[in-house]
Amino acid sequence: MKIMGIIYSKIRERIMKISTLFERNCKNHKYDKNDDVELKYKLPYKSDSLSEFQSPHHTLRYLWQSNYSAPVEDILLSSGVVLDAGCGFGAWLIDMALEYPTTDFVGVGLSPHQFPSQIPNNIKFAQANILSGLPFEDNEFDFVRLCYFANSLACTEWEPLIKELIRVTKPGGWIEFIEPGLVPTNMGPKFTILIDTLNQIIGERSNIAERLEVILQSTNQLKNIQKDTKSLTIGRLGGEVGISHENSILRYFIDESSVFYNRLGISSKDYEILLEDVRKEFQTRKVKEQFFRFWGQKIEP
Ligand SMILES: C[S@@+](CC[C@H](N)C(=O)[O-])C[C@H]1O[C@@H](n2cnc3c(N)ncnc32)[C@H](O)[C@@H]1O
Repeated sequence: MKIMGIIYSKIRERIMKISTLFERNCKNHKYDKNDDVELKYKLPYKSDSLSEFQSPHHTLRYLWQSNYSAPVEDILLSSGVVLDAGCGFGAWLIDMALEYPTTDFVGVGLSPHQFPSQIPNNIKFAQANILSGLPFEDNEFDFVRLCYFANSLACTEWEPLIKELIRVTKPGGWIEFIEPGLVPTNMGPKFTILIDTLNQIIGERSNIAERLEVILQSTNQLKNIQKDTKSLTIGRLGGEVGISHENSILRYFIDESSVFYNRLGISSKDYEILLEDVRKEFQTRKVKEQFFRFWGQKIEP
């Protein structure tokens, strides 16, 4: 046990060291300096632990300059009921609940420790595995969304999950999906190593963004299906949002470092060098990542 403790603390020390890479990157960026006056949604000015957990949400909100694409504003301004399935840390819910105080928001997630404790009183959280059926009646929600599950679900899990999400959506209500494309383009050799390793670890994951529209059509329960795409360049070549997204990526590979250096069969020191090289690649080549929103309306009987 003692040896395990020493090994663990050495790994921890190493992770902390790798983390300085991330911290340095954060210090070098300022995000927007509140001088983009015409932007509705800005990136957080300062990187603190809370905004790091929320940074994927901030990136998507910034890219679209909106929190959703489905035409649900009138419902949200009256008294809608909204579900965020697999809500993570609840960043989107908090944002939306503050903007639309007369609508009720529900977040479902696997890990209750991720649910924030200080929340607006129009949010409720429920623990559930969304793959085992949602703990709600048919036709309960005006708007249902699912965001960032491309890496979490096997190909075969999407169709039944989508049907379940449609089941709890009211007829005439809307459903929306937000996903990244799986493989960024123009990757350098070092980032390619990381992404290839990630794909080995998560197993066979189809590029859901390419299939989602077809799956939504094939349910025969949706109409007005639409799609919108945004692209960003990772790192400083992509401006403030690029730096913010680079930090999210680095944060992920730092948090999961032991998984990756074990899989790669390299030392934690070499992994640290690899991440530093990835960071350098982002400074010199335009590595692009795409994000997709799909939305559709549940057909009324
Ligand atoms: C990549 S995150 C996306 C979180 C959030 N939707 C967002 O956009 O930031 C996936 C989240 O869904 C949760 N999750 C993964 N599989 C789940 C499942 N089967 N049921 C419920 N939650 C799940 C994870 O715990 C994690 O918080």
